[in-house]
Amino acid sequence: MQALRSAFIALSHNRTLRRFLEHSSLGVRLSSRFIAGLTMEDALRVAAEVNRQGIAVTLDSLGESVTSEAEARRAAEVYHQLLEAIAARSIEANVSVKLTQMGLELSAGLAESIAGSLVEHARSLGNFVRIDMEDSRLTQVTLNIVRRLHRFHAGAIGVVIQSYLYRSEADIEQLLADGIRVRLCKGAYNEPASVAFPRKGEVDANYARLSRQLLQSPVYHALATHDPAMIDAAKDFARRHGIAPDHFEFQMLYGVRRDLQRTLVRDGYRVRVYVPFGSEWYPYFMRRLAERPANVLFLLRNYFRS
Ligand code: FDA
Repeated sequence: MQALRSAFIALSHNRTLRRFLEHSSLGVRLSSRFIAGLTMEDALRVAAEVNRQGIAVTLDSLGESVTSEAEARRAAEVYHQLLEAIAARSIEANVSVKLTQMGLELSAGLAESIAGSLVEHARSLGNFVRIDMEDSRLTQVTLNIVRRLHRFHAGAIGVVIQSYLYRSEADIEQLLADGIRVRLCKGAYNEPASVAFPRKGEVDANYARLSRQLLQSPVYHALATHDPAMIDAAKDFARRHGIAPDHFEFQMLYGVRRDLQRTLVRDGYRVRVYVPFGSEWYPYFMRRLAERPANVLFLLRNYFRS
């Protein structure tokens, strides 16, 4: 299983397969289970549909690791337009942003300044920017940028913490001290045992521990997982400690465990779905297959059936 996961993550960097899939109708159709579509209009339409089920949204304009400042600014412009469209159409959505798409690998200062303008724009509209977390080489610089931006725009920026990293408990303590909102996930990248728990059981145990740390804090946090064991443990902990269901939210990915999303809403919990869109869907799509290689069969079966 671990070998398959690593194989898909390795494939997520394969340029030939990427070029082929991104430009073929097969690729676009297979990915449509997890991706709202190629355009912003597709994303807004899906967001409104998801809202009608009582589920909030976070929108991700796909793209990672830009190679020029102009590209980073173009990527940010999409987010500025998204923030305006969300407000104009009263959609219940915020945005999720990757700092490498804002130029982090060109210059940390550039990414901070571009992300800072986005957070400022979001705050002026009463909205919120979640900074996604990427691989562990970027954890510290991402947290530094988030902490600095939070000082000027408290409440309009939050970050993601991954339970597979050994450092996460200490990072959460620091973020809680600063009052920064956290989205907790297990982590989606290939990481060495020097920085991350190698066994799934340990990642899960850490997820449960960190969830409790977040739930007990006065800040509003998000538990991003499709794992029923993690979700049940969080619900149980909240119930036993008198933590109201509206003090936190569960988050899941578009196209994954829709049944569980609906059940949580029916039971009175807050749910937000991560809705990605755009032409650069390939690495995101491959990471979803890495999480559950059985999805390949599922997608192909549906494809040939239709
Ligand atoms: P786990 O992988 O243990 O899966 C538990 C169960 O969930 C599986 O048995 C299966 O039933 C179901 N499941 C999980 N993934 C599935 C899939 N792709 N298809 C179908 N079923 C699936 N990561 C990161 O490194 N940085 C980030 O910023 C984010 N952001 C983020 C936002 C949101 C809203 C979510 C939900 C997730 C992320 N992630 C992320 C991804 C996260 O790190 C992780 O890879 C996935 O959520 C899968 O982990 P689970 O917690 O679902 O558990």
